[in-house]
Amino acid sequence: MRTKSGSKKTATVRPSSVKAAEPRPNGAGKARREVARDHPTLHFFHKSEAVVAGEAPIIYVNGRMLPKSQAMVSVFDHGLLYGDGVFEGIRVYKGKVFKCGQHMERLWRSAEALRLSVPISRDEMVQVMRDCITANGLVDGYIRLLVTRGAGTLGLDPRKCPVAGVVCIADQIALYPKELYDKGMKIIVAGRPRTPIECLDPRIKSLNYLNNILAKVEAIDEGCHEAIMLNTDGYVSECTGDNIFVIRDGHVYTPPTEAGILEGITRRFVIDLCAEHGVPCTMRMMRPEEVKSANEVFLTGSAAEIIAVTQIDDIRIGSGAEGPVTRRLREAFRAVVTSDEVPED
Ligand SMILES: Cc1ncc(COP(=O)(O)O)c(C=O)c1O
Repeated sequence: MRTKSGSKKTATVRPSSVKAAEPRPNGAGKARREVARDHPTLHFFHKSEAVVAGEAPIIYVNGRMLPKSQAMVSVFDHGLLYGDGVFEGIRVYKGKVFKCGQHMERLWRSAEALRLSVPISRDEMVQVMRDCITANGLVDGYIRLLVTRGAGTLGLDPRKCPVAGVVCIADQIALYPKELYDKGMKIIVAGRPRTPIECLDPRIKSLNYLNNILAKVEAIDEGCHEAIMLNTDGYVSECTGDNIFVIRDGHVYTPPTEAGILEGITRRFVIDLCAEHGVPCTMRMMRPEEVKSANEVFLTGSAAEIIAVTQIDDIRIGSGAEGPVTRRLREAFRAVVTSDEVPED
């Protein structure tokens, strides 16, 4: 469409919840142009323009698709002030949202636990993710979805935050260096225990990750990337950003929910893979000594996927390399996520 002056104008048909970004007054947005794409309702910057302008990824923030430099939330958002909010980390494989249904289920459960009302429906949330995938031309990548308490006053009271915020970032993630996926990784047992369930249930995937961050700092101090967190009774719960699996005599074990864990979606998927492949798998409370004396140990998570642990503190695990059961499960996992049937349920 052309205006009288001959300048190009894009037709704008927007859903009430999604607005295109405003042009920036300083002209820095000149390299950008709103592009009407094949999406019927959403207008956004063309991916290549965002890349050229160093503005990728294009991010959904409270109803708008914004280039990276403009993707911001209020400093009064209680997500920032208090870590009051929930989130999901989700993999995209072959353009599909891996285990989308389970992530939506967990996001809503986490929000309900905080009495946080998600401002859009589940279908709209899924559409937001798909819009971000399209806007960024993502084929394989990672989505970070946040629901924050929203902007309020300088006090804890969530009732002062009338509207929750929603942010969706579709990008790439490399949780651990690539070479560790081949040779396995060293981890430690953190001295700091996991927040007890009765204080803050780790099943709630909240924006407050300080307990995990402090354990991660312990790991970094020891020259590694991960730490096993014990619960206050001294049982293994999980790592700072992953669930843990242990293999002994061909049998797979993982801590149960009561150990104080996030019920990982990759963990669930691996438990199901074990059943499919005839590998016995049991949820069981474990002491750190049992983990250290196992034949194999591996971690699972949306960001981490599946990665072998080959050393815990100064103890070598098994042969010191990725073991056969871990490899089998990792290959089975890769076969699914590279197939034409990436599950979105
Ligand atoms: C503390 C913690 N445990 C476990 C996981 C793994 O969960 P999922 O497989 O759903 O990504 C995560 C992932 O973010 C996590 O933060």
